[in-house]
Parts: sequence; C-alpha cells; structure tokens
Amino acid sequence: MAATLTYIGHSAFQLTDGTKTILIDPFVTGNPVATISADSLSPDAILITHAHNDHVGDAIEIAKRVDCPVVTTVELSHFLSSKGVKQVQGGNFGGTLSFPGGTAKIVPAWHSSTYHDGEHSVAQGIPAGLVVRFGGVTIYFAGDTCLFGDMALIADEALDAAVLPIGDFFTMGPADAVKAAKMLKAPLIVPCHYNTFPPIKQDSAAFKAKLESETSAKAAVLNPGEKVEIGA
Ligand code: NI
Ligand code: MN
Repeated sequence: MAATLTYIGHSAFQLTDGTKTILIDPFVTGNPVATISADSLSPDAILITHAHNDHVGDAIEIAKRVDCPVVTTVELSHFLSSKGVKQVQGGNFGGTLSFPGGTAKIVPAWHSSTYHDGEHSVAQGIPAGLVVRFGGVTIYFAGDTCLFGDMALIADEALDAAVLPIGDFFTMGPADAVKAAKMLKAPLIVPCHYNTFPPIKQDSAAFKAKLESETSAKAAVLNPGEKVEIGA
C-alpha cells in the first residue's frame, strides 16, 4: 500500500492513494510559491491543522465548490460552518475522525490558532497536528508547532513519514526539527513551512544533511509541484 504526497507549497499538500485525493492545509491563492490554482483542485476531503490564514487558505471556497467534508478542530469547524461549509467534522485531542479513504487522529501542537478576517484576528480554538492514515500508510502532519517532548508518544503510531515545519520564526527551525525526527522515528521526513516568506528562509539541503547524518531517517525535500511516494 502506498500514497503519493504532492507539495503545493508552504504547508499545503495533496495526498492521493489512486482512488481518493485529500488536501491538507490548502493555502494556494496568495501562496507565493504555489504552482497551481485553487480552482484546479477537487478533493474528496480537506484536513486543516489550525485557523491561521496560511493553513485554512482556500479551504472554504474549495469545500463549498466540491461539497467535500472538512476535518479539523472543533472550534474551527464551527467557524467553517458559519462561513457556509456544509460538511464539517470538528474533533479534539486524542480523537480519531473519519473522512473518505482514511482517518485523522488529532494530536497537540504548540502554536496559536487565530483567523484574520481582514480587520481582526479571532481565536478559533487551539492548533493541532494530525496523524493521517490513508492509502495504507501513516503520516504525521505536525502543523505549526515548536518542538515538544510528547512527540515521543506519536512515534507509537508507527509512522511511515512525518511532515515537519523547519522555517523557524513562527515554528521550530531546522535543528529542532532534527530533534523532533529523533523522537518520531519516522523513516521519511518531509520539511515544510519554509522559503515562503522572508522570515522563514531556510537551507533545506543543510537540513537534509544534518538529519541524515544524525538519524537513520531520509529527508524528502520537495519543490512546490513535486511529489514523493510514501510506503512504496
Ligand atoms: Ni500558524
Ligand atoms: Mn503557518
């Protein structure tokens, strides 16, 4: 069993098992590195880690256009409902929620979770990471977070891959992401949330070299539009 993970850019990913396709944190419009347009996407489900605009992205527009379910945290799900998204599932830490083709277990992330409506930033609950089981593989999407010790517990999920922010400034940086990889024990690490905006500029080749010298994990450094097969 395998799934194909395509990097849209920033923290936005598409995951397909050949039958179903899902989006994670689909920030496409206004994403300076994205190589596709939001109206080209027709997912079977959308997963969102937290309410920041660079993660909710085009989720509301896409979910309304294709009428697909959105899986996220409970308060953000209420917000999405208020914006006219019909199929929302909001869970909380420890919970496992189903979507077409898989499940997502909601796990903690140390960050914040506001949505900026153009005038105000309004908190929509708290941020999360997601342990996604799809296409026979298990992938941890850390969302935006710092390093935290309970990542060691997430290793018990028997991860095939972990998607980790390395941008620093808003999240952990490359050195802490290597420490995270040591706890998570995933054989494949996909870095994200870097080189989108000036404050989060990073050297992904240096990250890959450090990760692969200090752990047995491999890094899949993807340019926007590139993909990696997971579990093949
Ligand atoms: Ni954020
Ligand atoms: Mn972010």
